[in-house]
Order: sequence, then C-alpha cells, then structure tokens
Amino acid sequence: MRTPARIGVAGATGAVGREMLAVLEDRPSLVDSLRPMASAREEERTIPFGGADVPVVPLSRESLAGLDLVLFATGAAVALEFAPLAVEQGAVVVDNSRAFRMEPDVPLVVPEVNPRAAGAHRGIVANPNCSTIQMVLALKPLLDEAGIVRVVASTYQSVSGTGLAAIEELRQQSASVLAGEPAVSEVYPSQIAFNCLPHIDDFDEAGNAREETKMTLETRKILESPELPVTVTCVRVPVFRSHAVALNVQTEDPLSPARAREVLRAFPGLAVVDDPESAAYPTQAAAAGSDATFVGRIRADDSVENGLWMWVVADNLRKGAALNAVQIAELLADEVPA
Ligand SMILES: NC(=O)c1ccc[n+]([C@@H]2O[C@H](COP(=O)([O-])OP(=O)(O)OC[C@H]3O[C@@H](n4cnc5c(N)ncnc54)[C@H](OP(=O)(O)O)[C@@H]3O)[C@@H](O)[C@H]2O)c1
Repeated sequence: MRTPARIGVAGATGAVGREMLAVLEDRPSLVDSLRPMASAREEERTIPFGGADVPVVPLSRESLAGLDLVLFATGAAVALEFAPLAVEQGAVVVDNSRAFRMEPDVPLVVPEVNPRAAGAHRGIVANPNCSTIQMVLALKPLLDEAGIVRVVASTYQSVSGTGLAAIEELRQQSASVLAGEPAVSEVYPSQIAFNCLPHIDDFDEAGNAREETKMTLETRKILESPELPVTVTCVRVPVFRSHAVALNVQTEDPLSPARAREVLRAFPGLAVVDDPESAAYPTQAAAAGSDATFVGRIRADDSVENGLWMWVVADNLRKGAALNAVQIAELLADEVPA
C-alpha cells in the first residue's frame, strides 16, 4: 500500500468511524486525502477533519474508486456487500465488522500480537472484536512465557460497543430513571441504565451468545492455537466507554504474579496498573480515551494448578476498534512489495 494514502472511511459518521478520523488526524504522514462515506441521506452532511469540513458521500461502487485504503466501520451486511468492491478497484480494506474475521484467507490482526499475519492478505484484513483485542494482548506475553492450558473470561462491556444509538439510549434512560420515569428500550432488549445485561448479540442453540463464541474463535485464530480451551461470558454494563475483562488463565508452567507483571509490563501496548493497597487498578473511566490496554489485580488463583487472575481494561473505540485498524494500515504501509 502506498503512503501517504488516499483513504476512505466507510461508516465515518458512526461511533467507530468518528474515532478513526480522530486517530488519522494524529497521523498526517499516513493521509494523502480522506473520503468519509456513510449511508445515502437526503440532507448533505460534512464531518470535521484536519481543520476543514469534509463532505460525507454515500457509500457506493463509485465512491470506492481511486482509493488506496478503505477502513470499514459499518455493520457486517454493508461490509460484505461493499468491501469486495473496494478491493476490486485496487484498495486494501481493513474491516471492523464480523463479516470476514473467520475467513481462512483473511488475516485477523492485532499488530502487537501477530503482525506477520497481515502480510498474507488478499485485499482484506479484519480487525478483531473489541473485547478479543484487549484479551489477546494480555494473553500473548503469558503464552510466550509459560504456555496456556485454559482461559476463562467474563466481560463488562460498555454501551459504545453497540454504537451511537446505544450511547444515546443509556443517556436517555439514565435521565428517565433519575426523574422517576419509565426507561424506554429500543436498542437493548431491556433496561441498560443502572442494570447489567448478560446478553451481547444473538444466542445459539447451546445458549452461548454470539459475542462469546466470537471471542473464543478469534482468540484461537490470532494466537494460532486452534485447540485452546477458551470459555467466555459477555455482559453489557451501564458504562459509556471502555470494556473490562476479568481474565482467569491457567498456564502450563508455573508463573508467579511478580513474573507475570514483568512480562506484561514489557509487552508493547500494555500498561500494568497494579497496586490495590493504594486503590491503583485499571478502571473503565480512567482508560477512556487512552491507547494502552491496562492490566491490574494480577494474583494467583489457588483453586487450580498454575492459575492466575487479571483485570484487563481498554477503550473499545480506540484500541478495540479505530486505533487497531489504523495500526493495521500502518503495518500494510510498511510492507515491502513482493
Ligand atoms: N463500537 C465498537 O466498540 C466496535 C468495536 C469493534 C468493532 N465494531 C464494529 O464496527 C462497526 C461499526 O460500529 P459502530 O459502533 O461505529 O456503529 P454505529 O455507531 O451504529 O455506526 C454505523 C455506521 O455505519 C453507517 N452505515 C449504516 N448503514 C449504512 C449503509 N447502508 N451504507 C453505508 N454506511 C452505512 C452509518 O452511517 P449513517 O450515519 O449514514 O447511518 C454509521 O456511520 C460494526 O460492524 C461493529 O460491530 C464496533
């Protein structure tokens, strides 16, 4: 991919798309020109970028022409239809939806974890699920240091993970509940304000939510460990921004919390915040707006052999989506043509 690149952002008006523009604004050397795209609307829309108001154009075959890179931040159905059209016309696509993640010829990449996978693309590289990204960042250094036998994860996911409409729903419901009025649910199946929902995406016949299955399968693909036992419960919590994961890891070799802290601290993209005595541990409010993935509450789990607990927090719109996608684009820009 040539740089600076002619970059399109499909879904530029959404929660992830807007964050992508913010991440790109911080990387002027990557951007030759920017074309924000979204659904067709009657009214003309613009979006601020680099000090100008840039027109938002309808996503179409025509608007995807003449681009080197297209970052997709739309739902899966739109990505399935339009990403191949971008590739056909010469662009490389980094897609944030679930549409292509498990395709065998589509790399699924977290640049700090499996950068070399990106080189094997055939036009599309997939950005993993937001909770998966922060989980594999914490798992990779432990895998390299001590091997992993089993992973048990519980997530505490913010409403921005569902998009702009969900952010508005939490805001409105919170105001209603505080005013003693009924909370109206349109995005979520029931009230999210002052409540937690163990329900993210559809359920399968076995009772697993699709988000839980995504985390299991994507983790195995990224860590190149196709048999790794990974079991997950995903919970939506009334937090605007950043996801937390309570992560229980059983390692093959013994790994003390002190050594785990060392290897986590040395890993790119991770920051260890772990002094519970002085109330120092990662929180979702503190992580919002940060690029790092934060790890704390690192402690032995004596209920199993070589067990370890961790609390992992990251901003789902930045490292969980926009930042990771732009980092993938940077990897592709560094590629030496074959
Ligand atoms: N939110 C996260 O933390 C997160 C993390 C990782 C991955 N993802 C994935 O990223 C994608 C976007 O999520 P989001 O949270 O940003 O959702 P969102 O806030 O609802 O934004 C959706 C975007 O898609 C656009 N869009 C909808 N229909 C379209 C169409 N027919 N043609 C062109 N554009 C269309 C919307 O444009 P309009 O303004 O025209 O409606 C908007 O820009 C999803 O696949 C999601 O699963 C999200």
